[in-house]
Amino acid sequence: MNQSIFFVTLAYFLALTLTVNGMPQARQNGATIEVTPVGNLVRTQHRVSGELYIFNQTLLILDNFTFDGLGAGVYINIATKGNNRRQYIQNREIVNYPSLEDNTPIERSYQKERLIISLPQGVQAKDIKWLSIWCEIFGVSFGEVTFPNEV
Ligand SMILES: *[C@@H]1O[C@H](CO)[C@@H](O)[C@H](O)[C@H]1NC(C)=O
Ligand SMILES: *[C@@H]1O[C@H](CO)[C@@H](O)[C@H](O)[C@H]1NC(C)=O
Repeated sequence: MNQSIFFVTLAYFLALTLTVNGMPQARQNGATIEVTPVGNLVRTQHRVSGELYIFNQTLLILDNFTFDGLGAGVYINIATKGNNRRQYIQNREIVNYPSLEDNTPIERSYQKERLIISLPQGVQAKDIKWLSIWCEIFGVSFGEVTFPNEV
């Protein structure tokens, strides 16, 4: 299956039908499926906020993502290695967004939007230790979440 076309279809589909309540559940085509909450973005600047969920081992949902858009070279970064924040930063890698084939930087403003994040080949949600909205130009995190050990 062509992954890029599939991804676009899925994003559209989810945007129309998926609702995440206070409870870790998402609605997909009338059926209720479980999502696993990871946490809220913290240590934020540039009005960044959002709540991260694991949809499944290859898809993350960053819900209610907000950003003032004032920043350049901003990308979603993850770390699968390291034991503390300094090491996560050292080991960080860019996750292409909006799709695995398209790594357009996050450079516009967002107001409570839902980002559907496809994980790179070989990375599973359970391997991720840290996710950041990372500004490559200034080398700073605009907001980040550390994954709890049990997810
Ligand atoms: C997103 O924000 C809306 C409005 O503030 C809130 O009702 C909703 O619960 C939030 N979504 C999540 C997943 O927390
Ligand atoms: C995650 O969900 C997407 C969309 O339903 C699906 O295409 C993908 O195969 C799922 N990944 C896993 C590991 O189940």
